[in-house]
Amino acid sequence: MRKKATLITGAAGEVGQALVERVVEQNNTHVISMDIKPLPPELDAKVQHIVGDILDHSLFDRIVSRYDITHIYHLAALLSTSAEYSPMLAHNVNVGGTMRLLQLAAEQSEWKREPVIFIFPSSVAAFGMDSLENKAANPRPEEWEWNKPITMYGCNKLYGETLGIYYSNHYQQLAENEPTMLDFRCVRYPGLISAFTVPSGGTSDYGPEMLHAAAQGKAYASFVRKDAAISFMAMPDAVGSVIQLANAPRENLTRQIYNITAFSLTAEEFAAHVKEHFPDAEITYNPDISRQRIIDSWPIDMNDDAARRDWGWDPEYDAEKAFSEYLVPNIRKRYEK
Ligand code: SER
Repeated sequence: MRKKATLITGAAGEVGQALVERVVEQNNTHVISMDIKPLPPELDAKVQHIVGDILDHSLFDRIVSRYDITHIYHLAALLSTSAEYSPMLAHNVNVGGTMRLLQLAAEQSEWKREPVIFIFPSSVAAFGMDSLENKAANPRPEEWEWNKPITMYGCNKLYGETLGIYYSNHYQQLAENEPTMLDFRCVRYPGLISAFTVPSGGTSDYGPEMLHAAAQGKAYASFVRKDAAISFMAMPDAVGSVIQLANAPRENLTRQIYNITAFSLTAEEFAAHVKEHFPDAEITYNPDISRQRIIDSWPIDMNDDAARRDWGWDPEYDAEKAFSEYLVPNIRKRYEK
């Protein structure tokens, strides 16, 4: 019999590392992690890590021949700024990789007559506000509003969501009583902030970058204006959310795509939190036009009422608590070493 396992792609990324740690802690499943990069050694020792390309067919064939994949957390992606530099590569990885895994999950679900739970982190980038006036007038869009992304990454994520809905409800137009479909569940993340890793290639990175710079006593010039506003979330809430969604009873879920958010800040408010803990922090503003445009197209906040109602989404960290209890203490330790 094949051994049951959870597959985590993009495991060496920011969310990936934190998620692998948390899923392993739960200790109730064998974890297979994948990434084009190796995992840090202390994490690598805890899982079966495969270094490989998400677009490599044979890798997945080998995995499913040995393991019964019950859950997939598909995190592998190029983020929004990177994707603007390499749109073709971003499309191949973000769309091609998602398509391949959805196909695999659909086939496995059908074959074993039990749905594979497929968790897909989408993003605030799936939204596209067309002006600052509309951004201000529509601060908390619902999941289906303003779905007009202006980035390659946002387009890829929105299509990934659509493909997930297709594979879980309409694949080959099978009737409802025909083979079991996969169970696709998706969250739209805001900007994420980790105390343990520094992001790369994202557009919300100015937040975490200013904090990590301050902790190292380095000056930081933000690539967006003071008044740039989006929502953020601390990494423990980000990984907790997808585990919570994966464990939610299916009958409670009234939709497949859920906005989730924790706190909304302007860059200046973000800097004020940083300065509260690092009073000598030197933070200036030197907006990059392209990255500013991207942030201007993302909503100030998102309406996450459905996630709160359907599966009990309730972030542990608001801004104050995120800085004082999670980010600052851990970041201080990190740079003291
Ligand atoms: N944090 C991501 C980015 O900036 C958005 O999902 O690309």
